[in-house]
Amino acid sequence: MPSNTPEKCKKSLNIDLANKDELFDLIVNNFPIGLVILDEDERILEFNPTAEQITGFTREEIQGQKCHEVLVGIPCRLSEFKDLPPKDRVLIHSEGTIHHKDGHEIPVRYTAAPLITCNKIKGAIAVFRDVSKEKQLEQHRRVLISMFAHDLKGPLAVAGGLLNRLKSEKAGPLNDKQRSYLDAVLKEVGRVDKYIRSFLDIVRMEAGQITLSKEPCDLKTLIHDILSSVQIKASQKDIRIRLEVSSKHIPLVELDKTQFQRVILNLLDNAIKYSPESSTININIKETGHNVVLTIEDSGPGIMEEDLPYIFDPFYRANYSGDVEGCGIGLAVVKTIVEAHGGKVWVQNKKPPEHGAVFSISIPKIAAR
Ligand SMILES: Nc1ncnc2c1ncn2[C@@H]1O[C@H](COP(=O)(O)OP(=O)(O)O)[C@@H](O)[C@H]1O
Ligand SMILES: [Mg+2]
Repeated sequence: MPSNTPEKCKKSLNIDLANKDELFDLIVNNFPIGLVILDEDERILEFNPTAEQITGFTREEIQGQKCHEVLVGIPCRLSEFKDLPPKDRVLIHSEGTIHHKDGHEIPVRYTAAPLITCNKIKGAIAVFRDVSKEKQLEQHRRVLISMFAHDLKGPLAVAGGLLNRLKSEKAGPLNDKQRSYLDAVLKEVGRVDKYIRSFLDIVRMEAGQITLSKEPCDLKTLIHDILSSVQIKASQKDIRIRLEVSSKHIPLVELDKTQFQRVILNLLDNAIKYSPESSTININIKETGHNVVLTIEDSGPGIMEEDLPYIFDPFYRANYSGDVEGCGIGLAVVKTIVEAHGGKVWVQNKKPPEHGAVFSISIPKIAAR
């Protein structure tokens, strides 16, 4: 808490920045981002004024309490870190919704890390920022774009219809050149139509207007069924797709099969597009803790560091993708569908000297009944 009594202020003005404790207090009290520090029992040790402002709780109220009992929405369980392999433990960087003291929900962006010493987790630190304003602007922008996208569907349908009539030669015979031009234009119209529909699906799914029809599924079978439809494209580049399952009995997961097929198709489509000729794409399914994790590894260029935060945004394409066909909607579709299933999707690059992207999806296992 800021020191505000005259005696405290007098003392504070003589602060000795070389004194680590005083410097620590000064930083915590003035940090313009919410800060919470937990001990190894997940009890709150520190809670700075910005955190008070965002959550409505005072430091006195919250100090010493079990974090997950008061701060709903911030990763408070040290087990969340313990479940991760050591190399991924350093940071969890994500978006979430935190419950204000009065009950309303606040969208936040947070980064959390375990406090580790001698390989032992002694606590955790999380910083979080209220992103309500950004979210509102984003929502406003989405509504505008989706209205625009929706209105484009009409003229596109008319254009497609007329082109098809021309193609059927109802308006007169066509020569070979005209027919091939017409086929090319129809293909492009079809692509634009597909992008618009995918984008509108994302908006609807995020707004909860598309309900998933989930059923218990075996991921291996689902992927197996999809492979035949991408095999032709892969073989055109002499690419081999290998499916590996880490253990005999991978538990079932609840999936909307049609939507989830889109997820896998989009990821495999990218892997094939960005892989060099005669390479291998590895798909792996394994069970970890409460989840089933699927990874798709390719040997393409991977994702540049500066593109990583945006790669799942609609219409975002990295610079190098210029000459590869696409419009940047695929990964946004993947993220929306995976999150609608309560899962997570993320990407990492292979460790040098290898190169390539590794996309991972984790889906919660069906709870043991
Ligand atoms: N497997 C991959 N390897 C390298 N870059 C990728 C891969 N998958 C996606 N990307 C990058 O992410 C961007 C967004 O992907 P996506 O949304 O599927 O759009 P699109 O495939 O239409 O370009 C791509 O333009 C590309 O820059
Ligand atoms: Mg794509």
